[in-house]
Amino acid sequence: QHHRWIAPGENDLRSPCPGMNTLANHGFISRDGRNITIPMVIRAVDIVYNTPSGPDLNLALKLALLTTDAPDSFTLDDLKLHVHGTMEHDASLSRSDESIGDSIHFNSTVFATIAEANPDSDVYDTTSVGQAMEERLALAKQANPNLLNTVKERHSQLLEASLFLSVMGDARTGVAPKKFVHVFFYEERLPLVEGWHRPSHPTTSTSLANIMAQLDKASQAKGPWIPSSLITCPW
Ligand code: HEM
Ligand code: MG
Repeated sequence: QHHRWIAPGENDLRSPCPGMNTLANHGFISRDGRNITIPMVIRAVDIVYNTPSGPDLNLALKLALLTTDAPDSFTLDDLKLHVHGTMEHDASLSRSDESIGDSIHFNSTVFATIAEANPDSDVYDTTSVGQAMEERLALAKQANPNLLNTVKERHSQLLEASLFLSVMGDARTGVAPKKFVHVFFYEERLPLVEGWHRPSHPTTSTSLANIMAQLDKASQAKGPWIPSSLITCPW
């Protein structure tokens, strides 16, 4: 009951991350999206998603602190800040680009590329999501002439796609039921009533690297991925 899903209220802050927003909507991190600390998130993602503390998660959390002036906490809407591309990036799977629209809130038109992937199946896998990533990037380039997609953004994209396949599905195979993934993105809710439970296999840097390599390959079926620029602003 304490962790039931409650939609964010008018004064609650939310981020471009469906994973973090879902934790807030269930009260595993502050429901108002404020005063989020690193220990709070490390505990929440382990309890909820079986994603124990590791290099990727720790890096994401350290970067989150760079988006704010507060010494040791951040708010969910801090995370939207580009701050030289610290966290939020273009060509997201479910959000518009910052320079042409709303980069925080879920956008079903943008998400259609994923929603329409693997049409004859009930699951997403690395092949279908990889192909959808390639398609989404091509559409994003058409829509946004200033699109930024260097090796750094590319790494984040592969990591994020691996994350939703792992926590809504199986971290070993990268196969996730569509109904779970859709509740996660559309409602930012844990699909518990739909039959999802905390994954029995942990999502680790090793498991993520495996899924990321498969996505990397599948997302270059039509042609090699080419960075929008060779200059990458370092973290
Ligand atoms: C984006 C999942 C942890 C910050 C994303 C996306 C997914 C995701 C699927 C891509 C959304 C899209 O392309 O539209 C998760 C999961 C997590 C997690 C399952 C936990 C296991 C975190 C943490 C942070 C974070 C700890 C930082 C505090 C972000 C940000 C984005 C993002 C800033 C936006 C990037 C963009 O698409 O422009 N996350 N995430 N995430 N995540 Fe997370
Ligand atoms: Mg984005």
